[in-house]
Amino acid sequence: MSAKIISGTKIAKQIRAELVKELIELKEKHNIVPGLATVLVGANPASLVYVGAKERISKELGIYSERYDLPEETVEEELLTLIDKLNSDPKINGILIQLPLPKQINGTKILNAINPEKDVDGFHPVNLGKLMIGEADYLPCTPYGIQQLLIRSGVKIEGAEVAIVGRSNIVGKPMANILLQKAEGANATVTVCHTGTRDISSHTRRADILIVAAGKPKAITADMVKSGAAVIDVGVNRIGKTPEGKSMLVGDVDFEAVKEKAGAITPVPGGVGPMTIIMLMTNTVKAAKLSSKLTPTKRI
Ligand SMILES: NC(=O)c1ccc[n+]([C@@H]2O[C@H](COP(=O)([O-])OP(=O)(O)OC[C@H]3O[C@@H](n4cnc5c(N)ncnc54)[C@H](OP(=O)(O)O)[C@@H]3O)[C@@H](O)[C@H]2O)c1
Repeated sequence: MSAKIISGTKIAKQIRAELVKELIELKEKHNIVPGLATVLVGANPASLVYVGAKERISKELGIYSERYDLPEETVEEELLTLIDKLNSDPKINGILIQLPLPKQINGTKILNAINPEKDVDGFHPVNLGKLMIGEADYLPCTPYGIQQLLIRSGVKIEGAEVAIVGRSNIVGKPMANILLQKAEGANATVTVCHTGTRDISSHTRRADILIVAAGKPKAITADMVKSGAAVIDVGVNRIGKTPEGKSMLVGDVDFEAVKEKAGAITPVPGGVGPMTIIMLMTNTVKAAKLSSKLTPTKRI
């Protein structure tokens, strides 16, 4: 039997509707409009698409939005000066620096310069440390979105065997930390695989939940998946152009074959991608509430 398709597009719409209500209430009861600044250095085509979508959705939701497009040759000092300005701007609750940054800029230094209270991407070491001890204010958007996808599509996380393929600081590592917490929507047994893993299949085949963020088309084939597993495909690989000139996207999972074996699976596009963006909006609304000492909405 073919797997249930977990639609990130649909679940992101549900969260969007919740945010609309929250934003109306914030405005009407407290006269608060959350603000998000997005910063893009250079013109990486994928980054332009992501920043464009983040700006568009924040505007559609009624979040105050500022966008900064800096030239490719921007030096570290200029970006640090901009971050300083945004850190002290009361209209801005969230700062998003689109990654990757050009070579001349030290990404770690830049992320560390963001005020952790405005770090709506959840990449500042303070926020990653809080995540590790189960006290997170902001979960990194992609793993946060994946947790929401699982919860909202009825996949049982508690007690599950989870295998994650990929250990990046933005997906794999925070994902593992989220799911291993002794908490609701977590409490799983987590294995993280990477290029140093001796036999990846031996781990993926045991997984009730398999999360793949390798950035390699068809890294996961049907023989690597447990029958009935929930498979979350984070990968976004551009494999050419459609006749209309649009990028053709595939994930890291051999979707057609794996969907015949899995119990549930996310498509690419329309799976994790829309969730990442809506969780950024969720974190921005949360940042505005925290800065005004209001209680944020519980989403887990
Ligand atoms: N949809 C979204 O919102 C979203 C968000 C973020 C990322 N993505 C996509 O997700 C993918 C991963 O992103 P990322 O930033 O986490 O990537 P990354 O920084 O390149 O990390 C990839 C990870 O996968 C591991 N890996 C690569 N090939 C592997 C293989 N054949 N077997 C086992 N492990 C393998 C690497 O291992 P080593 O550490 O040993 O090198 C590394 O840990 C990319 O396609 C990216 O575009 C999508």
